[in-house]
Amino acid sequence: MVSINVPTLTPAKALFPLRLFLGLTFVYAGVQKLGDPGFLHPGAPTYIGTQLEGFANGTPGGFILRAFAIPHPTVAGVGVAVTEILIGLLVSAGLFTRIAAAGGIGLNFLLFLTASWNTTPYFLGPDLVFTFAWLPFVLAGAAGQPALDNVTLRPSEAFVRRTRLRPVGAGEIDALTPTSTRRVLLAEFAGLALAIAGISALVRGSYSAPRRFSAGTGAGAKGSAGSAGGSTSPKPAAGSSAQRPSKLPAGAVKLGPGKRLPSGQAATYGDPSDGSPDILIRDSSGNLKAFSAVCTHAGCTVGYEGGAIVCPCHGGEFSAETGEVIAGPPPTGLAPKKVLEVGGQIYAVPS
Ligand code: FES
Repeated sequence: MVSINVPTLTPAKALFPLRLFLGLTFVYAGVQKLGDPGFLHPGAPTYIGTQLEGFANGTPGGFILRAFAIPHPTVAGVGVAVTEILIGLLVSAGLFTRIAAAGGIGLNFLLFLTASWNTTPYFLGPDLVFTFAWLPFVLAGAAGQPALDNVTLRPSEAFVRRTRLRPVGAGEIDALTPTSTRRVLLAEFAGLALAIAGISALVRGSYSAPRRFSAGTGAGAKGSAGSAGGSTSPKPAAGSSAQRPSKLPAGAVKLGPGKRLPSGQAATYGDPSDGSPDILIRDSSGNLKAFSAVCTHAGCTVGYEGGAIVCPCHGGEFSAETGEVIAGPPPTGLAPKKVLEVGGQIYAVPS
């Protein structure tokens, strides 16, 4: 009989992969934010200001965001991203692990009280899971694991000179304690975090803003339909019924010239019924599709990105063809809206 000896790890060493996962994930989260062209761009689907508004809407942690983050979305967004990178680097290296893990648990708990609050059932929201994953490292740090915290640091003379702690005389290096050396390392990690953040921001592509149609005051309704539609049949948009009206329905509102919306582009407009945001998309065949732009999960305003309708708040994704949910927590698809293209103009029809 063959017996296989599986080595048994200590509980501390068994937690090492989790520590690395948390650290690297935090670095990735920060880099991904700063590398997103729309993250700091008002009007983009992933704009941090829009995300913060959505997170604060009807959540127990919303008052914190309204007090500190929403008034300064750029500072908040960049600050969180750089903090995530720094926490990630420190936790990965095991330097000041308990303090860094406390930062991580605080960030994830705040996200649980805001971003993940409306996710049901609760265990589908990642932030609560992250909160508990951080807990062992807040309580015990990286004890028993490979970590800089567990190394007795004795800096070389060259290292001390490079960090310019102070002029070094013969025999003075021994006077430096491991704690002071770790502080120097902390400063270097902070510099590394800033460098990574800067590179992430530099390599991001440029953001091209979606168009926004401003709805008229009803002047584009029946009256103008007569002239506009004289020689052009109204073209029903997808997301609406397939009827081909000979004139525009009552209440139709002119949004703007159709040529302003090329294939593969989207625009937003205010719904003629209640002013709520709608999203208008021209597909690759030239057909128009329109849907409510209010996410069915927690009410964030969706945007169009990479051929899909995306929600900035919790990663909801909808089909740009049908409005149905493709991914994420939204419980239902986006309500279709009716738009028409007549005589080169696009009209929104009240539902
Ligand atoms: S509001 Fe949560 S995914 Fe849209």
